[in-house]
Amino acid sequence: MSERIEQDRIALLTGANNGIGLELTRRLLSEGWQVIALVRSGFPEDDMQINQALNIKQLRIYKAELTDFSSLRAALNQIKAEEDKIDVLFNNAGGSFPDLRFSKQGRESHFELQTVVPYIIVEELKELLHRGTLKTIINTSTNAFKFLKQFDPDTLEHPTEFKKLFGPYAASKLALSLWTLEIAPLLASEGLKIRSADPGGNNTLRKNKKSGLPFYMKPIMKLAFPPPSKGATLLYEAAFGKNRELSGVFLIKGEVSDLKFINLGSKVLEKVSSIYKREFDVGSPSMP
Ligand SMILES: NC(=O)c1ccc[n+]([C@@H]2O[C@H](COP(=O)([O-])OP(=O)(O)OC[C@H]3O[C@@H](n4cnc5c(N)ncnc54)[C@H](OP(=O)(O)O)[C@@H]3O)[C@@H](O)[C@H]2O)c1
Repeated sequence: MSERIEQDRIALLTGANNGIGLELTRRLLSEGWQVIALVRSGFPEDDMQINQALNIKQLRIYKAELTDFSSLRAALNQIKAEEDKIDVLFNNAGGSFPDLRFSKQGRESHFELQTVVPYIIVEELKELLHRGTLKTIINTSTNAFKFLKQFDPDTLEHPTEFKKLFGPYAASKLALSLWTLEIAPLLASEGLKIRSADPGGNNTLRKNKKSGLPFYMKPIMKLAFPPPSKGATLLYEAAFGKNRELSGVFLIKGEVSDLKFINLGSKVLEKVSSIYKREFDVGSPSMP
């Protein structure tokens, strides 16, 4: 059973405006949470619950194209200036792209969005997390990487091969779960908990969304996958459910699961941390 949620709790969600993130936002709002949405596009315009929450500032929107560091930096600075605390951070924005593309900084987009950006957000919002009560970070991952036979952290930034879902998408999520595991003891020493969780298969197909799924997966998703409220429940349980005292773990269907290639976790963490220090944290006092 989940812990009973108090009224003044604040969650920050990336990708809060669509799919699984939107369902999680709806649930948290209906339980009285305040939600800080870090999004690149708008919420559905005709959604009464969302509009009411916006009117009373229970829901607050900050806009950023997360893979563009100048846009991300501006939004994070705004959040730090305007918000008092964060109890739970959900790094949820992501998805499988149909082709190989690169961020403004020149790195493969899945890696930038799903591996590097969550790390930057954690580092930048640590102070707000320390001011919160739950001090919890949930990184949305996937079990798609269980099919990976090879994993080389040195190819994440500039892969030479592309495969939908089981290529750079899966590798970047594995890298996310690996740095989550690797950084957990350090964060625990500061009182913060971090976990990665697979929201399971969810039907998040919609008009105007270019699918990065292999062709045979689309009908499966359409006909057999549950609605995104299922994934939202798994992320919610990852934050507040029976594993809420654990840190570093990777959860599938709410159960702690093994990760592959854990010997490469420190290399992945070094990589994201050095990108952060070199390209994002420029001008700030150096980290201990
Ligand atoms: N659906 C599944 O079966 C499944 C399975 C395992 C894991 N996941 C993971 O669950 C998470 C949510 O996915 P979903 O299925 O709910 O997909 P979705 O409906 O496409 O939602 C993805 C969210 O991420 C946002 N986003 C994507 N790229 C962004 C960028 N560059 N900058 C800012 N925001 C960005 C999207 O913004 P826009 O609305 O502007 O596009 C959207 O809000 C992802 O991390 C995904 O990898 C999903």
